[in-house]
Amino acid sequence: MAFENILVEKKPPVGIITINRPEQLNALNSKTMMEIYGAVGELSSSEDIRVLVITGSGKKAFAAGADIKEMVNLSVTQARAFSELGHRLCTAIEEIQQPVIAAVNGFSLGGGNELAMACDIIYASENARFGQPEVNLAVVPGFGGTQRLVRRVGLAKGRELLYTGEIVNAQEAKTMGMINEVYPADELMDKVMERSRLIASKGPLAVAQAKRLIYQGFDLPLCGALEIERQVFAGLFGTNDQRHGMKAFIEKKKPEYKGN
Ligand code: HXC
Repeated sequence: MAFENILVEKKPPVGIITINRPEQLNALNSKTMMEIYGAVGELSSSEDIRVLVITGSGKKAFAAGADIKEMVNLSVTQARAFSELGHRLCTAIEEIQQPVIAAVNGFSLGGGNELAMACDIIYASENARFGQPEVNLAVVPGFGGTQRLVRRVGLAKGRELLYTGEIVNAQEAKTMGMINEVYPADELMDKVMERSRLIASKGPLAVAQAKRLIYQGFDLPLCGALEIERQVFAGLFGTNDQRHGMKAFIEKKKPEYKGN
């Protein structure tokens, strides 16, 4: 698939998607979102890719929001379709097997932050800024932000951010549990690659199942979620990787997982 607004790189075991509209601070228009959706599908079906990374090009932004210039004249019907496109993209990120890491290298605002929050892990540069400023434009987040933000940071902080539109720095975002870690800007991608390779060295079926258990189990009553965990745990004992991994431990060897 050829892309205009994103760059896609395969550096097995890592696949990298870079939103590439730096002059518009990587604002997410429909075309860009459709391209990210296509790239997520393409990379996630590659057998040699075990982790995906999404980042923004330039030094200023991960993505400064959904594209306001595209949204300004949308009809109610078109606005719903635009929101659905964002939901489809974010849900696809949550439903693929591989963990997805957002490498946030600047502004992560509105729809951009909603995209980051659909990722499994968020690492940020020290100059990153986070927020849901939609109320400044008299709208609400429409790519899942009202739901995913409060799941990440809790109701108290989530309400405050959603009602004030306030923008916080990377350290504040880390303290409130929105993101995982903050690195100097020139080290961000190296750290992200290092963390990606660490994840990729683990049993891929186990990592994929952990992702699915968290996604499917989080909103279930605990007893139902624990039942799914028991099933998944037991199922992994039918894999070669489980036998290999446990034997390698006993024999004091380093395991090499094949994903079967
Ligand atoms: C379209 C955008 C944009 C956006 C920036 N740009 N953000 N274009 N949509 N979300 C464009 C600017 O218009 C400008 O283009 C260029 O990028 C550089 O931006 P500046 O504003 O000149 O940069 P700066 O002064 O450094 O300010 C940076 C900023 C500001 C603070 C991030 O750009 C800003 O407030 N952006 C909007 C942030 C926002 O409100 N995001 C939420 C959008 S609503 P030109 O052509 O003038 O050079 C949303 C809803 C999601 O995301 C749900 C939808 C269903």
